[in-house]
Amino acid sequence: MTERSVMERRSAPSVQVLASAEEVALAAAEQVQRQLKRRSDSVLALPTGQTPIGLYAELSRRCRDGELSFADVRTFNLDEFVHIPPDSPLSFESYMMQHLFSHIDVDLAKVRLPNGNAPNLDAECRDYEREIAAAGGIDLAIVGIGLNGHLAFNEPGTPFESRTHVVRLSPSSREAFAAEFGGIDRVPELGITMGLGTVGEARRIILLALGQDKAEIVARALEGPVTVDVPASILQQHPNVQVILDRGAAHRLHVMS
Ligand code: GLP
Repeated sequence: MTERSVMERRSAPSVQVLASAEEVALAAAEQVQRQLKRRSDSVLALPTGQTPIGLYAELSRRCRDGELSFADVRTFNLDEFVHIPPDSPLSFESYMMQHLFSHIDVDLAKVRLPNGNAPNLDAECRDYEREIAAAGGIDLAIVGIGLNGHLAFNEPGTPFESRTHVVRLSPSSREAFAAEFGGIDRVPELGITMGLGTVGEARRIILLALGQDKAEIVARALEGPVTVDVPASILQQHPNVQVILDRGAAHRLHVMS
């Protein structure tokens, strides 16, 4: 390792490695709570997937116990499938209702997911961008990472300056949903996602990852070259990124050894 790469690593995202998924959820919830304390009307970008389920459970508990309020918060989800009815249990909208929105005091009028059933998807993408801008931009984006390095549904090869767009999901991304949908053939081929440029403009970003399966891609994203081949590597260019990992997801990071 050259001295220069060590220095580059120092300026890289701050990385917190915790013993368990539960601790990751608590640490992430703490960050969200601090953000809402600083600005009760924060604009949040929110992920779906397995990773944030513990965080959402903890935020729900804190809200129920009166420790924090989402009453003034606006949320924009990172992504959604195209042509899955919003009331299908497989939509990201259903996921968000199930894991977070139905348990907290958020005003549902201030909640937004990309509408994969919009009659004109290009117009929907433009509207999504306009609404994020009108809200004053994203204060805090919470993101996960796909096994192929995708951020939201931005697949490898997506330009870093991309805005909200419709995407053809990669086999790897569809495979991750095969069990839920009852076979990869039933997983939608298209998604609608905030672009990397959109996420990258968030004032602050928290990346969460859990488990050994993510270790290699986490290391490539945080310590490998910044390249469109690993969309999450864009995080290395952002001035305010916090990474919260369990030990499994962290074990390939050099910074750990
Ligand atoms: C999904 C989502 C991403 C998510 C990622 C990881 O496909 N579109 O926003 O961060 O893949 O998911 P998981 O947390 O289930 O590993």
